[in-house]
Amino acid sequence: MDEDSFREKLLSAHVKTVHTCPEEAGPGPYTPLNISVLFPGEKVTFNLYLKVAQKEYRGFDFFPFLKKGEAWERRWRERLIDKGIDRLYFHKDNLEQTIAYLNNYLQILKHQSKKISPALLSVFSEHLNFSVRRALQLPRLGPAMKEAKTQVENLIGWVQQDPGAIKLMWKILYHDYSLYNHSLNLCLMGVAFLLHLKYSATECRDLGVAALFHDIGMIRIPQEIILKAGPLTSEEKAEIRTHPEKGHQMLRKKAGEVLSSIPQEVLRLALEHHENADGSGYPKGLPLSRQHPWTPIVRLLDSYDSLTVHRPYREAFRPYDSLKILIPSCHLMSNMVDCPKNFQGGSHGKSYQVHRPPFQGGDSG
Ligand SMILES: [Fe+2]
Ligand SMILES: [Fe+2]
Repeated sequence: MDEDSFREKLLSAHVKTVHTCPEEAGPGPYTPLNISVLFPGEKVTFNLYLKVAQKEYRGFDFFPFLKKGEAWERRWRERLIDKGIDRLYFHKDNLEQTIAYLNNYLQILKHQSKKISPALLSVFSEHLNFSVRRALQLPRLGPAMKEAKTQVENLIGWVQQDPGAIKLMWKILYHDYSLYNHSLNLCLMGVAFLLHLKYSATECRDLGVAALFHDIGMIRIPQEIILKAGPLTSEEKAEIRTHPEKGHQMLRKKAGEVLSSIPQEVLRLALEHHENADGSGYPKGLPLSRQHPWTPIVRLLDSYDSLTVHRPYREAFRPYDSLKILIPSCHLMSNMVDCPKNFQGGSHGKSYQVHRPPFQGGDSG
């Protein structure tokens, strides 16, 4: 069977393809790639696979859909979307090639037009997602931190040029749980929030980078615990609660080597993002007065993002329901969003003076 016939067979109604499944968050060998970031008419530089359900053992397999060197065609995108599929998969060994491919496409889109298009934001967000993945492979953390700064600066530039870019990007991002998706969501929300509060571009950038790396300690937590479908035991909960300190240690070790490339906020927020305003958080139970001014912001956005994604042990809450859960225990968001003039932190030279009742937060990663 030639390649075209094989693809036709995969796209036929008889073959049950899989859009997504909870295992995707795990450390399997295949990584999803949004088909909207494939460059029509251009050859791919790595193999792409389709996830297909297997009746016999109620699992799934990955079938080659596009081989390295073949050109991606627009018509396949339409056929896949018709089948409810928005992503293909590449092997994790091809992460570098995927990042280079996306970077190449991103540069072309930037040169084609000064306007911010959905294609540009899709390619940018997927490129950033995979850059964070690579960054969390620790030997590359230093250079990756510098790269992340540049990428977040790009994002800030686009949002300053067109505030609608945030909404557009929010639609594009994956909203199923993985450490990378969560980090990217938090970065986007954090940057948008600080821009709304009229922080400087440098502060927005540092918060964006801190958001990308806030949960870096989670890579030291066993996957069986992170992906467990049932309730966690007290030992497992205790293990999860070690991730802020583990992340802080990992970053501090790297900061010793590449000090200038890691902003202090990244270190502080990795350590403090589970601290509550009333001192009931962890790891240190810090009162608000001893927290970094951005800690309550990251705490709030972290909880919001965790509530609005599907987790192995519960369905996702709708955004409105998530806010209902968060707002009674935290008036921080309503104070900041409705009355930004009350907020006098950041680059405006005054101390942080928002009235903040104790924040308990929801569940969060
Ligand atoms: Fe988190
Ligand atoms: Fe966390």
